[in-house]
Amino acid sequence: MILEALQLHFAYGSMPVLKGIDIAVRPGVTAIVGPNAVGKSTLLRCLCGLLKPSGQVLLENRDLHKYRPDELTQAISYLPQTLSTRAVLTVFEAVLLGRVHRLRWHVSAEDSRLVQTLLEEFGLADLGERYITELSGGQAQLVAIAQALAREPTVLLLDEPNTNLDLQHQFEICARIRDLTVSRGLSTAISVHDINMAARIADTVYVLENGRVRCSGTPRDVLTEEMIASVYHVSARVTVDDDGRPLVTPVGLKTRAI
Ligand SMILES: Nc1ncnc2c1ncn2[C@@H]1O[C@H](COP(=O)(O)OP(=O)(O)OP(=O)(O)O)[C@@H](O)[C@H]1O
Ligand SMILES: [Mg+2]
Repeated sequence: MILEALQLHFAYGSMPVLKGIDIAVRPGVTAIVGPNAVGKSTLLRCLCGLLKPSGQVLLENRDLHKYRPDELTQAISYLPQTLSTRAVLTVFEAVLLGRVHRLRWHVSAEDSRLVQTLLEEFGLADLGERYITELSGGQAQLVAIAQALAREPTVLLLDEPNTNLDLQHQFEICARIRDLTVSRGLSTAISVHDINMAARIADTVYVLENGRVRCSGTPRDVLTEEMIASVYHVSARVTVDDDGRPLVTPVGLKTRAI
């Protein structure tokens, strides 16, 4: 499936945030990067239909708002940047909730099996009966990602899924998102601050700057020393790793001549 935005504009009240964004989320991984407050989360909320921007958001060439809510819920799974819940649910129940649009009056053996498999894959099997309000930040993040995948969407929108995760889990989760995207033919968009992680998992990178797309393309085309200096005001050295992907080493803040 292709999810795309054409000349997308969005303002919170009188404050414009997105100023004419064109983006296409195709099968594969699309990374959205850029400094704080440039509008990455706002863009993902527009793409999943939570916010109503002007311009067009099209899923398979059809306006998002022409889909029934249950069709959208099934097609697009969105993981917000900040998680907050006071729901009294166990880890098992929370992941199962990802399948709420498919559940009938009882939970099928297939639903249970899928949730159990996800819990095992995410190293959460021992926590199945724990309440989600009693988890560490990283554990809660893993539950939220598992819940997003339990829906079996065709479009996956993940806003900073690495938040709260230690280094090992960051690598594991990103590899898992990449593998699932490829094996299931998903169209995945992921907002991420770690530019090297974006380089590692993305087919296409969009760099946002002040509510606009500064540039887009393959990681190698986009993640250049010039772009990093200009957008992030950081001097960096960009080399190429064994897989041909760019590897960014920040050197320091770019100093201006006084
Ligand atoms: N609900 C809201 N109401 C008003 N302004 C908002 C709201 N959410 C975000 N903003 C503002 O919109 C701008 C873009 O915010 P957004 O969260 O999209 O940025 P971001 O690129 O995701 O930033 P970060 O990297 O810090 O997550 C910011 O100036 C922010 O303060
Ligand atoms: Mg954000």
